[in-house]
Amino acid sequence: MPVDRKGSEVFVGKVALRSPLIIASGTWPHGPEYWRSPVTTGVGAACTKALTLHPRTGNPGIRVWETPCGLLNSIGLQNPGLEQFLMIDLPSLSSGDVEVVVNVAMETEEETGKVLAALSEKQHLLGAVELNISCPNVDGGGMAWGSDPVQAARAIRIARGNWKGPLWAKLTPQCGDISLVARAAEDAGADALVVANTWLGMAIDTNSGTPVFSRKYAGLSGPAVFPLSLRLVWEVSSAVGIPVIGCGGVSRVEDVLSMMLAGASAVEIGTFHFTDLSCFSRIEEGFLEYLSVKGYASAMELIGRGKRKVD
Ligand SMILES: Cc1cc2nc3c(=O)[nH]c(=O)nc-3n(C[C@H](O)[C@H](O)[C@H](O)COP(=O)(O)O)c2cc1C
Repeated sequence: MPVDRKGSEVFVGKVALRSPLIIASGTWPHGPEYWRSPVTTGVGAACTKALTLHPRTGNPGIRVWETPCGLLNSIGLQNPGLEQFLMIDLPSLSSGDVEVVVNVAMETEEETGKVLAALSEKQHLLGAVELNISCPNVDGGGMAWGSDPVQAARAIRIARGNWKGPLWAKLTPQCGDISLVARAAEDAGADALVVANTWLGMAIDTNSGTPVFSRKYAGLSGPAVFPLSLRLVWEVSSAVGIPVIGCGGVSRVEDVLSMMLAGASAVEIGTFHFTDLSCFSRIEEGFLEYLSVKGYASAMELIGRGKRKVD
């Protein structure tokens, strides 16, 4: 029997998603076959790999390292740069059947301004820009932009000046009080907040006796970080009035439900689909079943509902 997916639709501000499940940036190939059915069953939107003005080859040495229930990565924003993205990637991704969210790495004011101005010319091909002020794996820019409220507000203002469409800011956990950063981003004009990017960690290769990664530290993702991300979603959604998108360690329908009950309007999944490519359709089916059993007509009714009994 075909699944009735109507109840699954959510809105992140003005952006309508057929499902609350979003593919997290940097974890999904740009091959066109990945941006259409059947692989996209259950997916509401997909984020691209971070985009920079110029092509980047990424970090030298080992870039990913498994931990018992997570993954450390230090990719270093490898991407083909704006010109190739506009010519080859974007037209092919946007001809698929999911909403395209372009993850833009916050670099210098000038570089980011140029990328966003060029994307503005193609606004009809994308659903939103996700401004990455949270990359832990690069020098200069990256998570330095998101690590304090003043810099975060500056980044959002730069972006807002060059991009008039839906603007999501992807925050970093490495920031002291995330509520302050979140409020600053909201005041500066962000339309939604993605909470959050990876957690700074490290690994030591016991054979060589030295750190695994060339930059020593790397970003931790996967099921290990879920409770940490959930707490951030609760905190941020209590601090701002704009939509929050949960991200970090989601691997089960219960995680999606928890994120939404804690205040998320949608939920990104990255690392987990490396081990289970069909997780989106499976999780969405479980999600719809939960709505039906609990008597919710729409996924939107879940958002922040977990707070009502506590706050
Ligand atoms: C291999 C890899 C590459 C990533 N690249 C990016 C990136 O380019 N831009 C970005 O904002 N986040 C990037 N991330 C972070 C993810 O989008 C996501 O925020 C993080 O992995 C937490 O979610 P998860 O536990 O579901 O993977 C990357 C993560 C991984 C594992």
